[in-house]
Parts: sequence; structure tokens; C-alpha cells
Amino acid sequence: MNITVKSGNVLREASDLAVLAAFEDAALPDAAAGLLEPDDFRGRAGQTLLLYPRGAVAARRLLLVGLGKRDKVTAESVRRAAATAVRQARELQVAALSIGVVDDLPLDGAATGQALAEGLHLGAYRYWKYRTGLTTEQTFVVESATVYTGDEREADVRAGIATGQIVARGVMFARDLVNSPGYAMTPARMGEEAIELEQRVGLKATVLDKAQLTEQGFGGILAVGQGSANDPRFIIMEYGAAQEGTPTICLVGKGLTFDSGGLSIKPAEAMDTMKSDMGGSAAVFGAMQIVAELGLPLHVVGLVSSAENMPSGTSYRPGDVVTTLSGKTIEVLNTDAEGRIILADALHYAQRYNPAAIVELSTLTGAIIIALGSHATGMVATDDLLAERVSRAGEISGERVWQLPLWQEYHDMIKSEIADLKNIGGREGGSITAGAFLAAFVGDYPFVHLDIAGTAWAGAPSKPYDAHGGTGVGVRLLTEFLRGYAQ
Ligand code: BES
Ligand code: ZN
Ligand code: ZN
Repeated sequence: MNITVKSGNVLREASDLAVLAAFEDAALPDAAAGLLEPDDFRGRAGQTLLLYPRGAVAARRLLLVGLGKRDKVTAESVRRAAATAVRQARELQVAALSIGVVDDLPLDGAATGQALAEGLHLGAYRYWKYRTGLTTEQTFVVESATVYTGDEREADVRAGIATGQIVARGVMFARDLVNSPGYAMTPARMGEEAIELEQRVGLKATVLDKAQLTEQGFGGILAVGQGSANDPRFIIMEYGAAQEGTPTICLVGKGLTFDSGGLSIKPAEAMDTMKSDMGGSAAVFGAMQIVAELGLPLHVVGLVSSAENMPSGTSYRPGDVVTTLSGKTIEVLNTDAEGRIILADALHYAQRYNPAAIVELSTLTGAIIIALGSHATGMVATDDLLAERVSRAGEISGERVWQLPLWQEYHDMIKSEIADLKNIGGREGGSITAGAFLAAFVGDYPFVHLDIAGTAWAGAPSKPYDAHGGTGVGVRLLTEFLRGYAQ
């Protein structure tokens, strides 16, 4: 979709579908107010009303979209309103829509433009690669959006839209990776995606194959991957060289291209979405693309452990002891708690960059879905300042995180009798003991673990900019976090 900015009034200039956002506690512009019964549209968040003004304004159709109360409006409200508008445009088979930016929005022009572009692109996203027999109505695409704004905000809104387009593309890249079936998105394919990213945006990608992993001692990744015909990979993506004054940030992602549970096999109903178990690494891919496209003044290293967890005659077993890259040993009590085992190698590897922060994302535990549902990502942190930065990025990006404690008692729960750690700590506090496990591999570096098991996949999406399937969660969060760090 092509998005352009114009200074002017959408009610006077737009020809086909004009979209007007409205507050719950402010009057509509006169030209619109006269077209409806006031009670029919209150401007509540998410409310819409489609009008056919028949000459009263320039546009043939006028769509009112509610933003809610003015002082409650955030970038998220604008993102949702834009997604709602583009969905309506598609429904009406309107190829070009026009949007009026409310002048007294409590957001600056750049934030407004970014949220608009994100909402427009993400609201239009569908993963229909494998659908056949679609009607022209279904495949209809909204080709362009014109954003009308006042003179003083025009430049800022335009800059925000440029950023928002880059961010949205990164999110859609992550969604595509997650939505790909397990046979198509193997660890080897993930490696190829990194190489393609290198060619597309100019960062440095390195992919270690099974022989290299063996030679270098990535015992965790090798153990989890040993039951599958699809060999594991370790992927390194590096953007911006380490320089005096530019901090190094490591982003680490869980890249389980399919998690059957292994020999501790999952029941069928828990397995059917497990192609999404590489959602953390998809977020790292998306964020790396964005960082490079935005040219942020940072040194960012993306690390992805990728494997397929399968039951077979060569699988790792409950009772096995795995020696990880760090030299630390893990007693495997459940082969379905595999994410933490492959991440152990990646987190240890991250230390060689002497990073200012390590931020890791993984679809790690079912327990986080019980705790937070799909409305927040769980966070476990070893550093309060870093946790605060990530929380703030969550509020701004609309990808909220909620912190869980990491007290000594949780570390004690994963001590093993026969190895350094065991890979499960029991049902109680399952998301926290998983975080405690990971923290054992980062040394003293500031570390945040984000458990996206509840947020990476939307079976029945509740937000207008989410589609069924992968959400691309983490991409907007990481982008906002990194932009904050670059300031
Ligand atoms: N990939 C799963 C976690 C998951 C569950 C992600 C549901 C998305 C939706 C992870 O590898 C797993 O199986 N975790 C186990 C750990 C347990 C055996 C300690 C879990 O949460 O049940
Ligand atoms: Zn598992
Ligand atoms: Zn898993």
C-alpha cells in the first residue's frame, strides 16, 4: 500500500472513501455532524459508522471511526483505528482511501504517522499463500491511502509514516516466518532467511551448520535437534560495528521450527500451533531488518538457535545429561522443555560481544498463558534499569510486558542432583523457573527474558491489526526499545 501525506481537509478534498476519526468527548466537524443523529455515533473506541453524504462533503462515502476519550488516546488507539479503516475499505472494495488526522490528537505528528502506517499495513495483512479459489472480492487490495493533516504537522506525520512503513514491513516479515508450515520453515531455511536479509538490508549474517555446531560444542542445540531429519542451525546477524560510545545490544530468539515435545510428546491439541515455536526468532529477524533500514546508531547482534524437536530413534531422552556451550550441564527431565536448552547456548554465546544488554524472546512456557493470557508478554529480568526500558517500550509500542519476580527461591527450584541444572522445576511458577534457568547462562550481563507464548499466535485475534496466525509480537517492542537506546 502506498501512503502519502497532504495538508488539507479530508472532508473537502477526498473523493471516494473519507475516514474521519472522532473523540467520544468532542463534537464532530459541522460538515459531518449534520449528516447523522448524534446518538448514532458516540466516538467510542472501535465504534464505526458508514455514511453516504450525497454531496454534503466531497467524498462519496464517509467512515467515522471512534477513538474514545481524548485524554485516553494513545498510538495504540490510532493504530487500531487505521486498521479498522483499511478493513472497511477492503470490504467496500475501495482501492484508494483518505484519512483525516484529528488536529488536537494528544500525540505528536511523528507518533501519529507511525501508528497510522502500522495500522494500515498490519490491518491489511493476510497469510493466504496456501489458499486457492479465492474470489476477486477476497483478493482485493487497498492500493493507496492519503493522509490529510494540518500544515504544521505535515513534515512530522510524513516522517512518522516512513518509520511506520519500515516497522510494519518488519512485523509482516516476522508473521510470514511464523505462518510458514514446519516443513517449509526448517532450521536450514531459517539460515537462508538470514542470508537473504544480509543481501536485502546489508547486515552481516553467519550460519553455523551441524558440523560446525559439533566442532564448537553447541551441546544444547545439538541435543534438541538430534531426533529430527532437519539439522539444527545457529544464526548470527550483526548490524553496525562496535564503536566507542555505541552500545552493543544482543537480541536472542528461540527458533524451534516445530515443537512436537520430542519423546515427552505433546497431546494433539497442544501440538497443532507448534510451527509458531520460532516466534521469538521471527521477532529477532524482523527487528534486525528494521534496525538496518532505520540505520540506528547502535551495534545490534541477533542470535538465533534453531532446531526441530522430534521423537525418533535418535532423539535425546529424559534422563540424558547435556553439556552446553558454556560447559554447564543440564539434566533433561522433560524433552518438551527444549527451548531453554537451545537458548542456553545462544545466551552463553552472547557474552562474547560484551553487550550492554541481552534481550531474549521465546515462546517458552504454557504457564505464561495461564498467568497473563494473550494480553501481555511475560518478563523476567536480572537488571531493573533494563526491565524499566523494556516496559516503557512495551507501553509505547502497544506490545505490553508484565514483569515476574526472580528471587533466589526460583533459582533453587531448578538445581539438579546429578547435573548443574535440571530443565524443569515443576508446575509451580513454571514461567519464572524457566527464566531462572536462562539467567544461569548470561553471566553478569544485564538480561531480560520475554516469554511470548501467549502473544505470538492469535487463534482468534482480538485486535483489528492482528490476523489469524502469527502476530509478529516483539518486533514493535524491540524496535521501540532500540530506538530508545539509540537516543
Ligand atoms: N513451546 C512450548 C511452550 C508453548 C506452549 C508455546 C503453548 C506456545 C503455546 C515449550 O517448549 C513447552 O513445551 N514448554 C513446556 C514446559 C514444561 C514441560 C516444563 C510447557 O509449558 O508445558
Ligand atoms: Zn516444548
Ligand atoms: Zn517449545
